Amino acid sequence: MMSHGLRRVLLALLTAGSIAVSEPVSVQGRPPEAGPPLQTILEMETTARLLAILLHSGRYVINENQDLFDDPDKGDKRFTPEVFEQQLVEVFHSRSGIDLQELATARLPQRTKELLRALVSSSKRVVAEAQPEINRKGVGFKGFIPAVFGARVASRFTESTGVRLKQTALVTRNPSNAPDAFEKKALQEFADPSYPREKVISEVTAASRTLRLMFPLYATRRCLDCHGEPKGELDKTGHPREGLRLGQNAGAISVVLPIRK
Ligand code: HEC
Repeated sequence: MMSHGLRRVLLALLTAGSIAVSEPVSVQGRPPEAGPPLQTILEMETTARLLAILLHSGRYVINENQDLFDDPDKGDKRFTPEVFEQQLVEVFHSRSGIDLQELATARLPQRTKELLRALVSSSKRVVAEAQPEINRKGVGFKGFIPAVFGARVASRFTESTGVRLKQTALVTRNPSNAPDAFEKKALQEFADPSYPREKVISEVTAASRTLRLMFPLYATRRCLDCHGEPKGELDKTGHPREGLRLGQNAGAISVVLPIRK
C-alpha cells in the first residue's frame, strides 16, 4: 500500500497539470519503489484519461448527429470523416483543454500524442466505413449509435495499439461489454449517488504490468431515449429500457494501458 505521504505528493503532482485530476493513482501488489517510476505512472494516468475523454467525445458527436443519420428523406448526409473530425476536435478541446490540431507542440509525452492520434484515426475510419450505412435513403433508424460507434472504434484501436478500450455498465445489453471484477467494483462506486461526479478510478497492477482506468458516463437527455424510463419498455433498438434518470451514472469507459519499460 502507498503511504499517506506519497499519496499526497501524487495528488499534488497530478493536480498541478492542466488536466483536472481528482483521483490519485494507487499502486497495488508491491511496494511503490519496486513498481514503475512515479513519472511513468503519472504520464500513463493522464494518457488513459485523455483516451477515455476522446472516445467519449466521439460518442457525443455521434449522439448529437443521430437525428441527421436517421432522417429517412435525406440521402447524402455530408457527415464525412472530416466533418466528424472537426466536431470531435471541438468537443475534445472543450473537455480536455487540448487542441488536437496543435498536438505537435503540446506539452505531452510522445506516447500520449501517438495514442491520441491513433484514436482519432480509428474513429475517422469507423465514420468512413459507415458512410453507406449513414447515407442510406428511405430508412429511418439505422442503428449507427454511440455504443456501436464506440465498440467499432475500440476494436480498431486495440488492434493497432494494444491498448484496450471498453464501454461497460453494471447491467449490460451486450454480453461482451460485461464488467470484469475491477470494472464491477468501480461501477458500484460510481452508482452511489454520493460519489463525486466525473472522478475517475485508476489503478496500477504491477503483476499484469498495466494501468487501468475507469471513466464514468452520465445519462444526458439523448441517452434517456433508449436507456431511460419507462423501465422495461422497448426502445427503438429493441432493447428494454434501463429506467435511468437524467444525470445518473450510465456506465463507464474502461481503459487498460500496458506499462512500457
Ligand atoms: C438509440 C438508442 C441509444 C442511445 C441514444 C444510447 N444508447 Fe447506450 N446502448 C444502446 C444499445 C443498443 C447498446 C448495446 C450496443 C451493443 O450491442 O453493443 C448500448 C450500450 C451502451 C453501453 C455499454 C454497456 C451495454 O449495455 O452493453 C453504455 C455504457 C451505454 N450504452 C451508455 C450510453 C450513454 C451514456 C448514452 C448517452 C450519451 C447512450 N448510451 C445512448 C442504445 C442507446
